[in-house]
Amino acid sequence: MIKLGHNNPPIALDPKETIKKNINRRKLIVDDGISLFKGVPLPTWIELSLIDVCNRACSFCPKSDDKVAPDTYQKMSKTLIDKIHDDLKKMKFKGSLALAGYGEPLLHKDIVYIVNKLSKVSNVEIVTNGDPLNYKMIEKLYNANTARLLISMYDGPEQIEKFKKMIKKANVPEDFIILRDRWYTKDENFGVKLTNRAGTIKTGNQIPNDTHTICYYPSYQFLIDWNGDIFLCPQDWQRRQTMGNMMQEEIFDIWISKLMKKYRVDLLAGRRCNNPCKSCNAQGTLLGINHAQKWREIYKS
Ligand SMILES: C[S@@+](CC[C@H](N)C(=O)[O-])C[C@H]1O[C@@H](n2cnc3c(N)ncnc32)[C@H](O)[C@@H]1O
Ligand code: SF4
Repeated sequence: MIKLGHNNPPIALDPKETIKKNINRRKLIVDDGISLFKGVPLPTWIELSLIDVCNRACSFCPKSDDKVAPDTYQKMSKTLIDKIHDDLKKMKFKGSLALAGYGEPLLHKDIVYIVNKLSKVSNVEIVTNGDPLNYKMIEKLYNANTARLLISMYDGPEQIEKFKKMIKKANVPEDFIILRDRWYTKDENFGVKLTNRAGTIKTGNQIPNDTHTICYYPSYQFLIDWNGDIFLCPQDWQRRQTMGNMMQEEIFDIWISKLMKKYRVDLLAGRRCNNPCKSCNAQGTLLGINHAQKWREIYKS
């Protein structure tokens, strides 16, 4: 059913449609973009957590709980960005980098440098709450070769007009920016494909976690934290399981490490038996089917 958001917005909106569109868009990148390097499927989605601070505290996000995700103001250095660039180039990465993670990426003062550098080896998407944006910033991010700017609108439909004016003034192509309606109520899961962030947050109408459920996440993606720590997936908000640190090893070596293999094998067989997986309720099979198939063939032989 198409519903109107709060305050009679100028256009009919449906939170489920926004979520579906987002998943379909990512399917093209994650599933169709699969490529092999040294006989194994490369990740097609890497999330970066550039900075450990956010200017908001959304009730469905672990950032709203200081005990779980305090603002530490730690941020990724240019040296680390350069190393990501070099490692991805070496492994002929063909996927997307998503600048999102455990904070608000546009609060990093080197954001233009970061996008400029990383866009030489990858598609770069920025996921933002939109607060730090103005038309000049949109222009700068576009000129730095950002592939997409995804703006999460948490306040209400009045934000559509505000951002559309900014986009017009910045004179960037309309499809450069995706505006996502996320101002809905708890009953509608805030318009977000809500997860418990691996047992971290309980709100909305979430499904319980089931430890006998397949998950493809480690087959196609991982997250790099501000200090180079690589985490199994962006659901691990309590940073329970590090796969390694990319300042000490190359990204590809961590990707094919014994520890990653252990998680992949368990999760491909539906065993959410280790931390953080045993507390996680994320639907793990929405993306990554082609990677999963390839890893299964590799591990069988
Ligand atoms: C943590 S935010 C970081 C980027 C930026 N601050 C923003 O809000 O867009 C990344 C994404 O996670 C989403 N998110 C936050 N809490 C979530 C939860 N419990 N389940 C699923 N998605 C969540 C946000 O809506 C956003 O799209
Ligand atoms: S969802 Fe984004 S804007 Fe909201 S608190 Fe989390 S990091 Fe901040």
